[in-house]
Parts: sequence; structure tokens; C-alpha cells
Amino acid sequence: MTARNRLLMCAPEFFTVRYEINPWMNVQRKPDAVAANDQWQQLVASLAPVADIVLCEQAPDAPDMVFTANAGFVFESRVVVSRFRHPERQTEEPHFARWFTDAGFTLVDWPEEVRFEGAGDCLVDRGERRLWLGHGLRSDPRAGAALQAAFDVPVHVLTLVDPRYYHLDTCFCPLADGYALYYPGAFSAESQMLIRAQIRAEKRIEVSDEDARHFACNAVGLGEHVFMNRASKPLRRTLESHGFVVHESPVGEFLRAGGAVKCLSLNLDDPIA
Ligand code: ARG
Repeated sequence: MTARNRLLMCAPEFFTVRYEINPWMNVQRKPDAVAANDQWQQLVASLAPVADIVLCEQAPDAPDMVFTANAGFVFESRVVVSRFRHPERQTEEPHFARWFTDAGFTLVDWPEEVRFEGAGDCLVDRGERRLWLGHGLRSDPRAGAALQAAFDVPVHVLTLVDPRYYHLDTCFCPLADGYALYYPGAFSAESQMLIRAQIRAEKRIEVSDEDARHFACNAVGLGEHVFMNRASKPLRRTLESHGFVVHESPVGEFLRAGGAVKCLSLNLDDPIA
């Protein structure tokens, strides 16, 4: 592998479940701070051999800030800073805007009223220059046109229908060479058709209910390496048969907030092949 991607991550200094904005969150079942920190450190250790980890500081009033995938969406050196649907997460916006500005990114002008949760709902295809946007639970469908205008890139808009899979990155994951890992049940019938029409059968990897529940689609793909919370034996075998190397990094404490491996990182570069 030649180029390396930079991944933005945020250590879980103030991570907890203090409100409930997705079906995985329950304020009575808070994550254990020590275990969460251990899992996060192990995730960093497993990603570090293939990516450069860049850190930002967590703000005390932003328990979900560890999910840096939602900081914004970076594409070709410019960033759209997220406009969160829930007031509970809107406190993160100025922190991330400042981080991107200080890091030298150009911020894209964005229509204020259009909710958009960054790389949680917008994913870069790995076979063609095009984007996938998820809407229905968090981001506004109008984000599709706004992204297309901002980056001059085709955007396929997918409708999410299962509240457990509220961000596109919980149920869909473009991988190197134009592969995509996905959970069909998270999408409307029309969107399932769109996925099948746009991605050839040999490149589509459907995951089971069980793998979906363990956030297998919430994976980070770096070249042939794929990092995820947990993979069933059949899923591991399927990925390996296509030439991928599967790395499991358990992040159960973060599942209590509805996030896993991919949510905990944001690619600051265009994905390597
Ligand atoms: N508790 C967070 C929320 O509901 C989890 C975000 C997970 N991030 C992701 N990219 N799916 O917003």
C-alpha cells in the first residue's frame, strides 16, 4: 500500500449516554468509561499500522463527539461541517467547525436549513467518482442536490427505513475496488433496487440480520483491510474470498450509544484504492 489515509478520532474523555436519540441508547445502560477507553485504545492500535491517526479533543458538553464520522463530510480537500438534526448534538458543530478551520480545510457553503450528518450519512464510492447519501432519519434528502452542486459529483440518494440503522454508515459500506457491504433490510424497496442497479452482483456483499446488529457494516475499509466490531464466520469467509483482510476490534461500549468502528473515525483524505 502506498498512500496512507488520515483518520480523525476523538478519545472518549467525556463519552456517556445522557440522552436517547436512537434505539440503541438507553440512559439506564450507560457505557463503562474504563472499558470504553480500553476498546478505543485498542481500535487506535489496530488502525495505526495502516492509517495515520489524527486526534481532536472532546468537549465536556458533547458526549457523542467521539463519533467523528459525524463531524462533517470531507471530499477532495473540502469539508461540509455537519448540521445535526437533534439539539443534543448541535453543540458539537462549533467545535468541529473550529477544528477543520484550524487544520486548514476549506469549509463548503451550505444551506443552513438542510440537516446533514456528515460521513455518517454520506459515503464515497470506491469504484467510481460518486457519492451515496442516506436520508429518512437524520439527514435531509435535499443534501443530495447540495452535495452534487458543491462537489460537482453524482450523488445516489438512499432512503433509510429502519430506525436502528439511522445513519447510512450503519448499514452500507463502500469498499475498495467498488465492493459494497450492506444490509438490505435497512433500505426502502426502491433504494434496494437502486443499489442493485448501480452495483454489480459480484461486488455486493449482503450481511445477515445478526451481522447488521453487530454493526458489521459500520466498517472502515483501507485498501484491502477492513476493520469492524465483529464479523460472523460466514461474513469473514466471504470478505476473505474477495481478497479482503478482516480485523475485528470489539467496541461494545460504543454500541450502547449506537456507534461502532466507522462512526469512531473520519477519513480526512479521499479513500485510497
Ligand atoms: N449517539 C450517536 C447518534 O445517535 C451515535 C452516532 C454514530 N455515528 C455514526 N456515524 N453512525 O447520533
